[in-house]
Amino acid sequence: RKNIGILTSGGDAQGMNPCVRAVVRMAIARRCRPFFIYEGYQGLVDGGDKIREAQWSDVSGFLTLGGTMIGTARCMAFRELEGRRTGVLNLIRHGIDALVVIGGDGSLTGADRLRAEWPEHVAALEGEGRITKEQADRFRTLMIVGMVGSIDNDLASTDMTIGACSALERICESVDAILSTATSHQRAFVVEVMGRHCGWLALNAAISTGADYLFIPEAPPKHDDWEASMCATLKASRDAGKRTSLVIVAEGAIDRHLNPIKADYIRDILATRLGYDTRVTILGHVQRGGAPAHFDRFLGTMQGAEAVEAILRATPQTPSPVIGMLENKITTQPLKEAIELTGQVAQAIEAKDFERAIGLRAASFAK
Ligand code: F6P
Repeated sequence: RKNIGILTSGGDAQGMNPCVRAVVRMAIARRCRPFFIYEGYQGLVDGGDKIREAQWSDVSGFLTLGGTMIGTARCMAFRELEGRRTGVLNLIRHGIDALVVIGGDGSLTGADRLRAEWPEHVAALEGEGRITKEQADRFRTLMIVGMVGSIDNDLASTDMTIGACSALERICESVDAILSTATSHQRAFVVEVMGRHCGWLALNAAISTGADYLFIPEAPPKHDDWEASMCATLKASRDAGKRTSLVIVAEGAIDRHLNPIKADYIRDILATRLGYDTRVTILGHVQRGGAPAHFDRFLGTMQGAEAVEAILRATPQTPSPVIGMLENKITTQPLKEAIELTGQVAQAIEAKDFERAIGLRAASFAK
């Protein structure tokens, strides 16, 4: 019988609530005790009433709610050793011996570090007399299970992260709305979408809305004179009878020298070189808001249930897993490997090896 802490961390994502609901209910069904940890890692550091046992009815209605009902934060204290040690103390005080973390790349890296350091923290807390020997013996190891909650779809080891599908839906709805006004006025629109250093949202939005041009971090324009190619492409499309021009730019878009490509700059180019009446729309946090789409409710639920099973299957030697979905199957893979593979994409971009970056992104879905 395990006591399972659940926290959501980093940027919220639609589907986190369905995931929390599934962990709570599966835990109870499996005779474990689930505990909410409020405000992400901050709740772990603060302890007290930020950690409380969850009941079946506490998660009623969670399936349809956007954001995260147990709160999230980007916690500075947890980046420090002392903050993590206080977190360990709070977990032990609440008798928690397994932790489910739903968050992005950074949050899961933090989780993996906590697990690696855990024995050292327990020994130090015992040495300082902050926990008893009995507590130290009982909590020699901590099982951590990660699930990727992020609209960016930027983590290797899963085809889809929880929230990406809903964010893409929202982007498509918004761009559809923009296109009706753009067409009326024969205007050009430059739409910036989120994704941090990942172009998945932008790429899929461009395909799904029929954009004329796209900028993503993994595949910067191949030539320095990309402005001329962009203008030629947009003009050809207008010449063929199209009444509007749509450029989608990922917020992390760069040129081949790694300089950012910003929506305002693109607007200025279209206005001065082509004379188009051009507007910029930065979709911003509307992409993260609102109710989860069907797929994120499904994904969150299936993965949340599997997270509890993974905890119950684990031995002290089992590496921390990340639950994902590959080729429509819910999967369990070592968290460390997923984080390392994700990091390699960033390294390839920094090294300006864009072919490799694209290859690694593709491989991370196929793996
Ligand atoms: O990681 C999710 C995300 O929405 C990114 O797409 C974006 O760059 C970032 O978070 C925005 O963070 P914040 O909500 O802290 O401004």
